[in-house]
Amino acid sequence: MYSRIAGTGRFLPEKVLTNKDLEKMVETSDEWIRERTGIQERHIASDGETTLDLCEKAARNAIEMAGIEPADIDMIIVGTTTPDLVFPNMGVLLQDRLGIHGCMAMGIEAACTGFIYALSIADKFIKTGNAKRALVVGAETLSRIIDWSDRTTCVLFGDGAGAVILEASEEPGVISTHLHADGKYKDLLYFPSGVSRGFADLKSGTDFVQMKGNEVFKVAVTTLGRIVEETLEANDMSADEIDWLIPHQANIRIIEGTARKLKMPMERVIVTIHEHGNTSAASVPMALDVAVREGRVQRGQTLLLEAFGGGFTWGSALIRF
Ligand code: ACO
Repeated sequence: MYSRIAGTGRFLPEKVLTNKDLEKMVETSDEWIRERTGIQERHIASDGETTLDLCEKAARNAIEMAGIEPADIDMIIVGTTTPDLVFPNMGVLLQDRLGIHGCMAMGIEAACTGFIYALSIADKFIKTGNAKRALVVGAETLSRIIDWSDRTTCVLFGDGAGAVILEASEEPGVISTHLHADGKYKDLLYFPSGVSRGFADLKSGTDFVQMKGNEVFKVAVTTLGRIVEETLEANDMSADEIDWLIPHQANIRIIEGTARKLKMPMERVIVTIHEHGNTSAASVPMALDVAVREGRVQRGQTLLLEAFGGGFTWGSALIRF
């Protein structure tokens, strides 16, 4: 038994923040942001618009493409670092929004790798016969935990949600997933407060994403190079058998580095960072949905999804679409 993607969906908040807008907020320039990151604009949730709102819209789009009803879903898993509440978890909240009751529902926190972790967990449940149809979502409102006066972080991130319906199938499907983490890097990218430690005063200047960008960059490039090699080796495949690389959208230079390592031309890499910025767990499923709806990703093609994020966590998924 395999799991296969039956539908994809995404949702981006209406409000767009351009590099030019950021020039008015911090000492930066459109040119610097484009050159160093590839980002031109990002979407930002409006006041009162939450991660759950984004999840619901992305999920409904995926449900529609899959041609199913919400009641057909027997597992919900949401990857996010920016949940609406500490509990109930985001899967439960999304289940209620969709008007379905009783199926298992969970949230998973693995920073930018959250969707890949969620996809891998759902795949295992389906392969072992414990679920038939899973809704898997990656969603964030990172704009809520960014210091908008810190130019080293605020130019990078955006909000959004991406979703897939994963269903049991005799044909692949998800061929393999590969998950890793290494907590020794916990101080390079983190959010400094939480329930048990206590939340700092939001105005203290510490309750925001903290990142040593340069060091994150270096580890990301080498680690992503290794994970794509591991994925190919595990399946005895070469890079030219991959139709599309669908990477986490953190920085165009990191994406190009991974493509170079694979000797893959950028024409076979899905890039959305210019319009989405870094949306953490939402980035890979949104890029997948863009490529599917534009008709670039076609049924039967082989996709390599990869992501890297705070922790560090990293992972990949090889998929026959
Ligand atoms: N505008 C203008 N100048 C800036 C800006 C800005 N927004 N930000 C930094 N600078 C300046 C710095 O102050 C520095 O100036 P100095 O030389 O006078 O000290 C100069 O630009 C170069 O700064 P660096 O940090 O060395 O720039 P770098 O080329 O490393 O780019 C960046 C910074 C874009 C953050 C890069 O390191 C990066 O992308 N790192 C990875 C970040 C990332 O991907 N994080 C998330 C991954 S995991 C996840 O998605 C949660």
